[in-house]
Order: sequence, then structure tokens, then C-alpha cells
Amino acid sequence: MTREQEIERRRTFAVISHPDAGKTTLTEKLLLFGGGIRTAGAVKSNKIKKSATSDFMEIEKQRGISVATAVMSFEYDGKLINILDTPGHKDFAEDTYRTLTAVDSVILVVDSVKGVEEQTENLMRVCRMRDTPVIVFVNKLDREGRPPVELMDEIEEKLDIRVRPLTWPINMGQHFKGVYNLHEGGLYLFRPGKTVVEEERLHIRDLADDELDRQLGSDAGRLRDDVELIEGVYEPFSVDAYRAGELAPVFFGSALNNFGVRELLETFIDIAPKPVGRPTSTRQVDPDEDRFSGFVFKIHANLDPRHRDRIAFLRICSGTFERSRQFLHVRQGKQVRFTNPYSFMAERKSVVDFAYPGDVVGLYDRGDLKIGDTLTEGEELEFRGIPAFSPAIFREMINGDPMRSKQFHKGLSQLTEEGVAQLFRQGNRLIVGTVGELQFDVIAYRLEHEYGAAAKMQGLPYSHARWITSDDPKALDEFMRFRSRNIVWDKDEKPVYLAESPWVLAANERDHPKVEFHTTSEFKTRAAS
Ligand code: G4P
Repeated sequence: MTREQEIERRRTFAVISHPDAGKTTLTEKLLLFGGGIRTAGAVKSNKIKKSATSDFMEIEKQRGISVATAVMSFEYDGKLINILDTPGHKDFAEDTYRTLTAVDSVILVVDSVKGVEEQTENLMRVCRMRDTPVIVFVNKLDREGRPPVELMDEIEEKLDIRVRPLTWPINMGQHFKGVYNLHEGGLYLFRPGKTVVEEERLHIRDLADDELDRQLGSDAGRLRDDVELIEGVYEPFSVDAYRAGELAPVFFGSALNNFGVRELLETFIDIAPKPVGRPTSTRQVDPDEDRFSGFVFKIHANLDPRHRDRIAFLRICSGTFERSRQFLHVRQGKQVRFTNPYSFMAERKSVVDFAYPGDVVGLYDRGDLKIGDTLTEGEELEFRGIPAFSPAIFREMINGDPMRSKQFHKGLSQLTEEGVAQLFRQGNRLIVGTVGELQFDVIAYRLEHEYGAAAKMQGLPYSHARWITSDDPKALDEFMRFRSRNIVWDKDEKPVYLAESPWVLAANERDHPKVEFHTTSEFKTRAAS
């Protein structure tokens, strides 16, 4: 197969959702279809259980498993599908945001009972920053959910994207009968009570077909009315608008019952984009370029504290990745070589000789690689689009053991390089910001067990971080002097303003119109405030 063909057949994406909407269940069902796993439950075990919020051993165990499921690859209908796993726990949201920079599209799961939830909105905002194409899967149709039209309106409004249903449910909950495929015209019947592996597919000519009445009885009339309404209200589906991130096709189903999953998968491989290009510090890089390039979007520490090596996950963006070949580590300006890179097919990780754009390879690393690092065949460019997001909880980290100061600093800097949390400095003070409480438990535990260091943590009254810039250096300087107690520096020495509350933030934004307050560390995004 030529490289062009290899690129053409790849689909790299992530399944995302608010916790509990059904991301894990859907991922697992997709893998079962593709033969990527043989048994249900394989992905499930990756989840950090809700009850385990402060169970360190559980976290450690999960870290081990999540290396194996970081990327799940399988073949379906000639396509090579790479699903990038994202943590289910809300405290690890930033990990998910970063993983989203390495995918070409996403499937967003929405719970039909709960509708659009907080984390769904946050995740979607990140997708919108890069115009990532989104397919929505409305899940749990076997339960009494909200009316589908209401759900569609909510998705459109809260997620700020136009929607177009491609299947339509016939009732919900106890009376759920199946879905009608608006795209291709088929009827898929749901037979409750059976342990269905595949739903029953019925080919009907069109909506006027008598078979519809025989199968659905009085619901057939309602379906006809619904479809007429949908065709009148929603614009026709356009693959181009979907790929531009402007229009989200919507599917209905039940992941747990494996219902509606095949339609989703088949439409997905049809319409989802092949690996797309990415912006860098100097130019746009396209996947079909001859020369290799890629970036690190995730780092996992080794579970064994005696071995300091880590695994860096590299998304390939152009050219061919070859085992043992020398590449340029752009940030360090030095040549690097990986003799044992591996890929992740069907529950197995195996050493890979070649990999192509859209693929993710795992690289053993002794501490040279950081999240966001670029590798190339020699060109000095750096991939953009791995911003840091505002943490929500801030603590000052104080060395708890003067004899172990070196270990404390090394541990803290390595853990934050791995992306466990963000590190800010203010003179000699070290301030760590996280999305959730759980990361502080992880930091304390890992500092102790991997670095033999102890940390004292002092709570700080901040809730928002904003990267600050201004076209007027004097205005910026004035603001920084005026708010000096709230100004810290991030890992790239960029100034960051920490606010105590949304009201304080709003007041400062109002009072300092010449200063720009950015919600992420990269400003050329739509999310820039
Ligand atoms: P997540 O990764 O998005 O957090 O969600 P996950 O797949 O773990 O699903 C959350 C819960 O919702 C699970 O139940 C799962 O079985 C259930 N679920 C998923 N899809 C459907 C569906 O189509 N219909 C119904 N009725 N339930 C669904 P749980 O009780 O939390 O876990 P478990 O004991 O079943 O593992």
C-alpha cells in the first residue's frame, strides 16, 4: 500500500462525553464491531471508579491500564481506526483537552435523559477552537429521555453548532421501537429483552411503505409526521459543513444495548475526515508531505519507580515515522532515535517499524520529551494548538523535607511536564494549578513514592487564571504592578493573572480595557477572550 493509501484509510478520533453519559460503553461497542477487543469489559476496567476519588492505589492501577488503552486501533471495512482514549474523570479534563489536539474528529455522547451537561459544553468549546468535526450520539434511548426535538434544540443552542439528525427514534424508554435512518431510508427495530448484538434491520422502500405500518402500528403515522417536520426544519446534511466543524450529524441509540452503534460506525467511516493538516509556528503542515513530523500530546510515567523512563505519545502529522531513524527534537535542537516505538492494535502493543499520519506511536523516553514537543526530519517548526487551560484550584507547594529539596523540585517539574498539573512561579514561590482535587492527591502520592519527596500544600484563594497581553506595554506593566500579588509566570515565562472569583476577574477586565485576558496560553484561537 502506498503512503497516500495508508493516509486515506485512517480515521483518528476520540469519544467524549460528560461522565456517565456512556462514553466507555460506546467505545467498547465500537471496538467489538471492529474486532479490536474480544470481550466486553476490557475498556470499562480503565475507568477510575467514582468511589475511588482518593484511593491512591486505584489511581496507580488505573495509570497502568490506561497506558494500554491510550490508543485503541482496529480495522473495519478496510479503514484503520484509531480511537484515542480520554479519561472519564472530570478532574482529568485537561488531559482530555490535550488529546483533542491529536484527533481529526470526535463522537460526542449525550445522555438522552440528562441532555447537554457541563462537561459536554467544556469539551465542545475545545473542539470549536479547532473546528473539529463532531458527530453526536444521543444515548440511552431505552430509558425515558427528553423529547428528541427538545434535545436537538438544546444541543444546537448550548453547543453552538448547527445540527442535522441522520436517524430518528421511534418512541423512547419502555416504548422504544427503534430508529429510522433518514440518511439511507432503512428502519432498525429494537427488540428489548434479547441480548442483542445486532439490531434487526428492515429495508423499506420509503416512508409510504406499508411495511412501516405493519411493524410500527399507530407509531408509523407519527414517524411520518416527525420526518416531515425534520425535513422542513433542518437543513439537508452536508459532508462539507460537517468537516468544516459547522454542522453536527446526530444519531440516536443505546450503547448498552448495542443499538444504533453500527449505523454510527458505518456513517462515521464514510464521512469522518482522513488525517488533516495542522498549523505550526511557521506554516501549515499537510499529511501528504514527504518529510516526517509529529508532536507529543500525552506522557505517561513508568509505573515502576526504579525506572524513570516514561512513555510519550506522538501523533504523526506528515511523512513516514520509521523505527530507529534519526529525527530532530526541535525544542532541544538535537537528534533523537527511537529503537522500540510501539503501536496499539487489538489489545496488544507491538513494536512498529513504520507509522503514518493519523497514527499514534508510544515512545520510551528518559525525560527529554515534554507535552507539545515537535519531532521532524530536520525542519525547525513547532506544532501549535496544545494550549494550557485555566486551572480551577491553586495551591502553593512548599518543600516538606529540607534534605530532599532536589527531589522535590525535580519531581514537581517532571510531574507538571507530564501534564498532571500546571506549575506557576512567583519569585521563589511555586504555585500549582489543577482542574480538580484529585490531581493534588496524585502529586502528593507520586512525589513521595517516586521521588522520595514530601510536599506541604497551602490553599490559595484563586479560581481563574488568565494569560495577559497588551498592545500597549505601558498598560500591561501598570496592570502587573497594580496587581503584583496576583501575577505569576507560567512554564514558558508568560505572565498570568490569577483572579479570586469571576466577579473580580470581570471587574479587572472592565477596569483595564487595554489589557487582554486570555483563557488559554495560546491566543490565536476563537476562545481568546
Ligand atoms: P462514561 O464512560 O461516559 O462515564 O459512561 P459509561 O459508559 O461508564 O456509562 C455510565 C453508565 O450508563 C453505566 O452504568 C452504563 O452501563 C450505563 N449506560 C451506558 N449506555 C447505556 C444505555 O444505552 N442505556 C442505559 N440504560 N444505560 C447505559 P453504571 O451502572 O454506572 O455502570 P455499570 O455498573 O453498568 O458498569
